Amino acid sequence: MTTFKAGLEDIVALRSEICFIDGQRRRLVYRGYDIGEFIGKATFEEVVYLLWHGQLPTQDQLSAFRRQIADAQDLPRELVDLLRSFPRNAEPMAVLRTAVSALGVVDPDAGIHDQEANRRKALRILARVPMIIAYHARLREGQEPVPPRADLGLAANFLLMLRGSEPDEVETNIFDACLILHADHELNASTFTARVTASTLSDIYSAITGAIGALKGPLHGGANEQVMRTLLEIGDPERVEPWLTEALANKQRIMGFGHRVYKTGDPRADFLRQFSQQMSQLRGETRWYEMSRRLEELMYERKGLYPNVDFYSASTYYLMGIPTDLFTPIFAFSRVSGWAAHVLEQYADNRLIRPRAEYAGPQDLRFVPLAERG
Ligand code: CMC
Repeated sequence: MTTFKAGLEDIVALRSEICFIDGQRRRLVYRGYDIGEFIGKATFEEVVYLLWHGQLPTQDQLSAFRRQIADAQDLPRELVDLLRSFPRNAEPMAVLRTAVSALGVVDPDAGIHDQEANRRKALRILARVPMIIAYHARLREGQEPVPPRADLGLAANFLLMLRGSEPDEVETNIFDACLILHADHELNASTFTARVTASTLSDIYSAITGAIGALKGPLHGGANEQVMRTLLEIGDPERVEPWLTEALANKQRIMGFGHRVYKTGDPRADFLRQFSQQMSQLRGETRWYEMSRRLEELMYERKGLYPNVDFYSASTYYLMGIPTDLFTPIFAFSRVSGWAAHVLEQYADNRLIRPRAEYAGPQDLRFVPLAERG
């Protein structure tokens, strides 16, 4: 009847104008621009604008967009109360998933589903996700939240809100570039989740809440946290080889390696490798970078696998002093831009996404009444 493909591998499920991945030529393209075009030249906000509107903003459009983001940042009182009610040891991804869902309850456009209302909601989610992450991170340390500054962009504001002090320019630029590299990635598991939800004409908050849940898993966005845990467990460049030999002998999956689409390497990892090295030099701590390089070398020798986006982002964020369990929430902070772009595209030309399953269970069983079952 139909062709079965485990994990929907290589199945083309829809047409999109947002993002193109060339898995053979190691390329990632947003709306026609290779990601290399943005690094060192564009800000995250410009890239979000591009993803949402299909073209780069003019100076006036960008200034207006940044102002709208700044105006949308304040968390509603209900959200603040909710965040304060969570236990301090709550998982940050669970906090984020629940908080985004709650934002949907109190959104002033909650009952309106036209494209303009959906754009306003997307903007509120984009502006508030970093607030939620930083807010919870401060509260669980027993510290009061730090308000964002209207003159700073999303990257600098996030680092400011997390630590209470303004980050320097080099660090801000690296973090901003990390957000750009994570912004979109075609029909990955979380974006697919968002589009499936949107295709039922459910609301954008439901779509993005589901996407956060999908991103959380260690085979997807959760891998960046696992990478750092691996590096911390290994602890020393000398120990990389024996650790890997044992891990592979135990058939362990090495987090941050391999990809469903990229078969000759992940172009995002090339930039992140440089950022990890830059942060090592900036901090005068080269251990994590050296360990990562050694692991990369050995994984290629032994498994022919390349690092993915989650590999070098781990040491980059760690060297910025970001707690490990915030790595995946930061992935979500950036990916909200891609999820929203896909949800808006789905609404604009919708067809319910509803694949089939190949039935592999028993057939023709006869019902046995309860009293006769052994
Ligand atoms: N470590 C060890 N072996 C691996 C790994 C890995 N990280 N990745 C793939 N393999 C092996 C796997 O064991 C299998 O070998 P065999 O054919 O001998 O059984 C072969 O490569 C193919 O693996 P697969 O699981 O069928 O491939 P997939 O396309 O379903 O998996 C993947 C892609 C990303 C889930 C997988 O590479 C993986 O589990 N990687 C580790 C988790 C990770 O880093 N995830 C982040 C993905 S990129 C960012 C994102 O999207 O969030």
